[in-house]
Amino acid sequence: MGSLDTNPMSSALPNDKAAFEPLNFFAFFPSTNSAAAIAGDLIASAMNTVGFTWQASPAATEMEVLALDWLAQLLRLPTTFMNRTNTGRGTGGGVILGTTSEAMLVTLVAARDAALRRTGSVGVSDIPRLTVYAADQTHSTFFKACRLAGFDPANIRSIPTGSETSYGLDPAKLLEVMQADADAGLVTTYVCATVHVDAAYAGSACICPEFRHHLDGVERVDSISMSPHKWLLTCLDCTCLYVRDAHRLSDSLETNPEYLKNDATDSGEVTDLKDMQVGVGRRFRGLKLWMVMRTYGTAKLQEHIRSDVAIAKMFEDFVRADDRFEVVVPRNFALVCFRIKASGAMTEKDADEVNRVLMENLNKTGKAYLAHTVVGDKFVLRFAVVAARGETCRFQDARPKPLGHSVFPTSC
Ligand SMILES: Cc1ncc(COP(=O)(O)O)c(C=O)c1O
Repeated sequence: MGSLDTNPMSSALPNDKAAFEPLNFFAFFPSTNSAAAIAGDLIASAMNTVGFTWQASPAATEMEVLALDWLAQLLRLPTTFMNRTNTGRGTGGGVILGTTSEAMLVTLVAARDAALRRTGSVGVSDIPRLTVYAADQTHSTFFKACRLAGFDPANIRSIPTGSETSYGLDPAKLLEVMQADADAGLVTTYVCATVHVDAAYAGSACICPEFRHHLDGVERVDSISMSPHKWLLTCLDCTCLYVRDAHRLSDSLETNPEYLKNDATDSGEVTDLKDMQVGVGRRFRGLKLWMVMRTYGTAKLQEHIRSDVAIAKMFEDFVRADDRFEVVVPRNFALVCFRIKASGAMTEKDADEVNRVLMENLNKTGKAYLAHTVVGDKFVLRFAVVAARGETCRFQDARPKPLGHSVFPTSC
């Protein structure tokens, strides 16, 4: 047997220094954090509350419900999504889950069971008739959640998108596909983006009035989830799922063993959050969200979002000012999708390769770390403002430099 590596971390970590330095890291998606969130998480870990029912921890449940309602107010969600309204307990409500994937899974299961009830199905015999829909740009985890919820992979429709809708879902195309399914005797069950809105990333921006229009029409959807652990200064894990009818979740997810029976539950006046999630046990996640909202307040949270968007806008301006580059998808928030354009003798395929090499070389410098994706068959670089920053000066120099392969940023 060979000798043990006494410092496994040093050999496991690649040389890509930027990958581990938040201020140089522009890949994937935001994972912002804050002192308030860390303190909340630390206290929650120390208390180790497992508030599955209200009775198991009234404080954990009430604080979660309160923090969710505050956030709903900040997002100007309709009161139908709130746990408590001015007139008392509504039919809707929220729950904090670990990830968006879980939010998709529980809402898919609820939609599946509601569809089965609609068809008068005996047991699960009609599951092969149920269909679900999403844009081809919908996060890949949706397709995983569909499989976990038991949908037939052949009935998971990925609707193609294109530049004409800025890679958004085209309602006419969606209707066409749904109609064809209905005509074929299938049961249309779930649309990610219409019945459920996945606002994992962008939801946080909607606390700012200037971005709130992205949630227009939310009053007509059944559920919406967004993740403060992405962009609202809250450490993992914290995905807020809001539903218009909490019973649709509990009809599918409720468990009622003898040892959990209690008067509070029987009164119907309290929320047992275990009935809105996969597991029974649950962390006291409401505390960190409460701490973030209580500590920073509306103005500071909005400032944080605006500052990240300003950094992305600054970067976008650098890219647009250089005609060797193109911005591939219109920028809405703090993510810029861009690439070196195919020009002259360079084909689109050549450009894909040039962009790949550019990214690899850039990432090797240790000065910045980007990720890529493919949009409309093009290899595209993603510049995402991902870490909470108090200043923008570090990025002033992140503008394109004369083209070799080290285009930018050579000195941030
Ligand atoms: C829009 C969107 N949906 C879903 C996900 C997956 O989130 P999670 O890891 O919380 O399941 C992400 C992650 O980046 C995302 O941005």
